Order: sequence, then structure tokens, then C-alpha cells
Amino acid sequence: MRLQAALGVTTLLAATTAAALTAPAASAAPGCKVDYTITNQWNTGFGATVAITNLGDSISGGWTLEWEFPGDQQVGQGWNGQFSQQANRVTVSNPPWGASLATGATVSPGFNGTFTGTNDKPATFKLNGVTCNGTTTPPTDPPPGNGARVDNPYVGAKVYVNPDWSARAAAEPGGSAIANQPTGVWMDRIAAINGTTGARGLRAHLDEAVQQAGGSPLVFQVVIYNLPGRDCSALASNGELKADELPRYKTEYIDPIAAILGDSKYADLRIVTIIEIDSLPNLITNVTPRPTAVPQCDTMKANGNYVNGVGYALAKLGAIPNVYNYVDAGHHGWLGWDDNFSASAQIMAQAARASGSTVNNVHGFIANTANYSALREPYFTINDNVNGQSVRQSKWVDWNRYTDELSYAKAFREETVRAGFPSNVGMLIDTSRNGWGGSARPTGPGPTTSVDAYVNGGRVDRRIHLGNWCNQAGAGLGERPKAAPEAGIDAYVWIKPPGESDGSSKEIANEEGKGFDRMCDPTYTGNPRNNNNMSGAKADAPLSGHWFSAQFQELLRNAYPPL
Ligand code: BGC
Repeated sequence: MRLQAALGVTTLLAATTAAALTAPAASAAPGCKVDYTITNQWNTGFGATVAITNLGDSISGGWTLEWEFPGDQQVGQGWNGQFSQQANRVTVSNPPWGASLATGATVSPGFNGTFTGTNDKPATFKLNGVTCNGTTTPPTDPPPGNGARVDNPYVGAKVYVNPDWSARAAAEPGGSAIANQPTGVWMDRIAAINGTTGARGLRAHLDEAVQQAGGSPLVFQVVIYNLPGRDCSALASNGELKADELPRYKTEYIDPIAAILGDSKYADLRIVTIIEIDSLPNLITNVTPRPTAVPQCDTMKANGNYVNGVGYALAKLGAIPNVYNYVDAGHHGWLGWDDNFSASAQIMAQAARASGSTVNNVHGFIANTANYSALREPYFTINDNVNGQSVRQSKWVDWNRYTDELSYAKAFREETVRAGFPSNVGMLIDTSRNGWGGSARPTGPGPTTSVDAYVNGGRVDRRIHLGNWCNQAGAGLGERPKAAPEAGIDAYVWIKPPGESDGSSKEIANEEGKGFDRMCDPTYTGNPRNNNNMSGAKADAPLSGHWFSAQFQELLRNAYPPL
């Protein structure tokens, strides 16, 4: 989450080309398609991903892709494959952990390279010696705007109220003020599909949703959150699937969910899916060589299971005509720096094209899920100067381009369109806990004695640091859920159910795969991802997802707008 210098060209030049490979035996009758995407480019360097889809017989003994560069491009560091180059001829072979490629499966090796002059794409590719001339759009992909979906599913629709959360909220003193608000239904483990103690399963929710709809349009919000190696940069929401368990994610998690959502009984619901919180941005910000790197995120980048898992979820769920996929887009206090912003949109485009998906399976993006970043900072803007110093130079903003979620969400929407997503993608913003009201809320700008005094005196987000994310002390409920509040914003939503913990403040044994993250411990002095600040977390918190009454009470007290 910290500012880091953009990756320099010198780093790329220093990266070594992978060692020579031994050619695998060719499999029978391969057919294939290749999407070669230049993901970013500067004077003499570029990054590219090469999505290879096997349209022929299943390959088991290893694969090799070859192409010729039209110019003087030179491959540097590569991933998800073993790269070598002789003159302008590049060969990529399968990584040691991925020798097979089933019919219809996609692998996405990528690389950083250098060039001079122009950087034209290679014209032809060969997979195991056979030219790839498959179509670039899989036939199963619904054309954009095919009429089955509305542009903004929230317009003219009610939104599902989760009776399980509603009962817990109503049981709290003062809780009835918000107990009828819609919140997200989290499928946070395989067992959640059929239901766990105190939480009904997916079908029971959908049956209830049909009741609540009463024949009128109704949005049902479900969170898809169970990737292999989940939450690689933190421990509080680690999941049940290990880093290499992509096959289980597909067959035991996504496939059953898709089967239920696709049931014709639910065809009149507008099903909004929130796709895999925090996963893809972690592959940009929390990997080597950043100072914020975490080994588990390096693993998830190298094995491709976040990208391929998200692609699979998008393809499977996007094939259901009344499903609206929204991909998680972090928040401004994470991706609002230049070196994170475009790269995150790019990896989302890469994931949206993985595992047989296309960008048309993405209806939009969601910012601030389960986070605390303020919707609006009313008392300063990114363009303000104090004594000749920009707000961007303040310790709080720290060169970020955005001061709040609204400005970030609108800009990120445009960035995703530049990255190749349909021009009508829409944004959601999770406003469940970003209200920052109560008696400590500033009522005007800070003093102009220094840029820090100005920003710190005027900011409504009262966290110790923007990178703090666990059970933040002093937070309040944010804007109530609302359709189409601003241009480009499909809705304000409460995806994180207020009152459910972000993580335990001490270690608690459990069978949910949850770890103990010290960012949830109020005595923790931080790490590079929050620039070594105190965690700002509330004490005595239970496991993530469990009811945290004291936090619920504080959210009510500090609601903004007030209740
Ligand atoms: C937890 C999930 C929970 C969700 C909603 C996440 O932090 O890991 O188990 O369902 O929050 O409260």
C-alpha cells in the first residue's frame, strides 16, 4: 500500500532469460488460440501476457509455444512458463508444475521485455508444432449487451435483506434502525453453500429472495470468496483451500454455486456476484521485489491460481444470463498510487481473459469492500496546496492520486475501460463502515500552518494510516445502500455486514482456516504494508466473520450520515 518507485527498465535488463529447455513430446492433433496482450509499455520496455487456449486434444506430456518477434524485442524475466530466445525466435515451455493442458483450458505465461523502435505483436504462434488459428472469442461467450442484462441492476430494484444478519442486528440495542438494510451474503467456504450453524445455505437464501421479490425486480448480492491460498498478504481471512487447490475451487466450490444460481427458479432475480476480494491487487502490490512482498503472494503469482481461479469464476458465473459479475478493485488507500493503479486494472483484464473467460463476463468492479476508506473527504482535495506544498506531499496522502473512494472509483472505472473492459462497466462502493461520523468528525478544513496540519485537521477518515484494515476504532456506518448515486456508480452497497469482525485480536483456534493477523491486535506496531504504524484495531475482537457487538455499537454511534 505504500508508494514505491515504478519498476525501472534497468531491473528488466538485469533479469535473466530462463535456461534452455528440453522440448516435450508433441501431443496428438493440437488446435489452439493465442491472445498476446501487451499489458504495459514504456520507452524501451514492456510487459506482455500470452494466453494460450488448447482447442485440440488434451495435452499431458508438456507443451511448447513458439513465435518470432517482428522487431528486436528481447524477452527478460518470465513467469508461468520457461522462456528462451534465440535471435528473434522465442520458445516457452510449460512450467515444471503444469505439464498438462486440458481441452478448452487456458494458461497465461507472461514476461517483461525490451525493444527499440516499434513493438509490433508476433503474427503467428505454434503450440507443439501446430499453428494456432483458433478464433479469439470462445463461442460460449455471450455478446455484450445481448439484452438479457440491464445496464445497472440496482435501478428500479429492491435489494435482498439477509434474515440471518438482520436478526443479529435487530437483537442489538438500537440495531433495529438498520436491521432492514441489505447486506452481502458471503460464500466464504465450501460448507457455506449448504449452510453452517447460524447461516442458511445458498438455496435457502435464494428461495427467501424470491419471496422478498414478490414478483418485482430484486438484487441478490453474493460474495465469491474462497480462492486457493486466499488472502495471501494477511492471515485473518486465510481460507480453507491450499495454494495449489485450484481443481477443488472449480469442482467443489464454483461449479456447485453455478449450478444453484443457474436454476430456473431464480431466473428473475438479478444476482450480483462480488468476485474474490483482495486477490488480484495482492499480485501487484505484495510481491517481490516490493518491500511489501509476502512469500504467499509470490506463490500465488507464480502458480497462476488467482488469475485462473478468477477467470474460471467469471466464465462459469457469467454464462448465467441473470448474473452480474463485479470484480474486487481494492480501495484508494491501496491502489491509488501510480505504480499500483494501471497494473491492477491490467491484471484484472488478464484474469477476465483466463480460463476461457472474456472481458464481457465482467459487469463492473467494487471498491472498498470490507474497508474503511471515506467515501468523500469534504475538507481537502488532491489539488490543494498549503505554503507551496501539495496535499499529495502530506504524510497521510503520501503521493496517492486520490483522497477518497468516490474520486478513486470513478477514475478506476475509466482505467478498466482503457484496459479493455466494456465501456459501460459500472462501479459499486462498499459504504458499510466508512462513515467516520460522531463527535470526533472535523467540521471544516484543518489549519494552513503546514500541509500535514491541514490534511490531518480536516480529514474525516481518522485511521492512523490508510493501510490499516482490521476492526478500525472510531469508524461508523457509511452511506445507506442506494442505487445510481453518481455517474458511473451503480450503487452504494453494504457488502461487509456491519458487526461482523475482520479478524481476531488474539490467536483463536478454529476450523475455518482463519489465521491470526497482528494487524487485528491493537498493540501491534505495524509492518511495511502500513508503513510501520500502529494497527488502530479494536480490542477483544472475535474471528473474522463472527459477531462483534462492541464494533456494531460503535458503528451505530459514529454513523455518517447519522442515523
Ligand atoms: C471473513 C468471512 C466473512 C466475511 C463477512 C471475512 O473477513 O473471512 O468469513 O464471511 O468477512 O463478515
